[in-house]
Amino acid sequence: MDAEPIDLRSDTVTRPCPAMRRVMADAEVGDDVLGEDPTVNRLQARAAELLGKEAALLLPTGTMANLCAFLAQTRPGDSIILSAEAHPFHYESGNIAMVAGLLPRTVADPFGKISAEQVAAAAVRTDDAHHANSTLAAIENTTNRGGGAYYQHHEIEGVARECHDRGMRLHCDGARLFNAAEASNMEPCFLARPCDTVCFCLSKGLGAPAGSLLAGDGETIRRAHRFRKMLGGGMRQAGVIAAAGLYALENNIPDIAEDHRRAREFRRALEAEGVRFALPSPTNILYIGTADAAAATRALRERGVLAGAVSPGRIRAVFHRDIDDAMLGRAVDAFKATLAPRQG
Ligand SMILES: Cc1ncc(COP(=O)(O)O)c(C=O)c1O
Repeated sequence: MDAEPIDLRSDTVTRPCPAMRRVMADAEVGDDVLGEDPTVNRLQARAAELLGKEAALLLPTGTMANLCAFLAQTRPGDSIILSAEAHPFHYESGNIAMVAGLLPRTVADPFGKISAEQVAAAAVRTDDAHHANSTLAAIENTTNRGGGAYYQHHEIEGVARECHDRGMRLHCDGARLFNAAEASNMEPCFLARPCDTVCFCLSKGLGAPAGSLLAGDGETIRRAHRFRKMLGGGMRQAGVIAAAGLYALENNIPDIAEDHRRAREFRRALEAEGVRFALPSPTNILYIGTADAAAATRALRERGVLAGAVSPGRIRAVFHRDIDDAMLGRAVDAFKATLAPRQG
């Protein structure tokens, strides 16, 4: 067994490559809280351009990017429409309720998506003082708990139309927006266009150590900037992080297609052995069904592979740029040995 395990727990485990570390070391920096870090300013301008928005803001995490988007576009006591599988509903420590003061109105879908019809059915817009008015909906593209599902462009437009017709706004949690762009063969700016705000993470498939960008119109991003400071997310010489982000946007986007190819090959090889997948896996996230996920992940670890037991009957494996073809082959062997139904 190799000393270093093959880590399929998440694409957040990617590490900065030597060339990325060099640009970080050499980054021109200033005090970003004063707006004086030239590398941060360049990254924010680049992100705004990539997403076709007026302005963008660098935040330490995707969690803070979502939260600042929510705070900037709602008021405490409003309601937000999002999937019952959405990352902010499950994995952001209840911040929608605790910090933003929002009532989540969740809609059900195994792939973690929301439809125009669901927005229409869930939205509350009334003068009746009994109700929490819906002012924002949030989509996730791609979805984390929904197996890396992505939206077709017309689906995003449909959701946006329902929101805008009701005077609501639409946020896109694009933690993996570049995976969505690759899978749907659409430029990120087209996926972003129907949405009022969009964020993406540098720290996942793009391979940077930290950072997320939130983009939108100038006024909304100014409001988000204020909330970033309030939450303690104003970083000083953040150009060191921004340099990694610029490097990632310049160099790493094309490799996402390779992550998707490896995920497809992984699935094909295991399905041929009778291994059951719990959801479709159109991008880099795979959910595998098994009777005892905790026991299976322990056995995988002994075979040199790390995967997540996300529920008693589900294992998650995520492909990313630190997994090459040789590691894919070893991961397939380990999963086969652990999960394939025994012959004879
Ligand atoms: C869909 C989605 N949104 C938001 C986040 C939050 O990102 P961070 O871990 O940078 O806070 C994640 C992290 O995995 C995610 O998968």
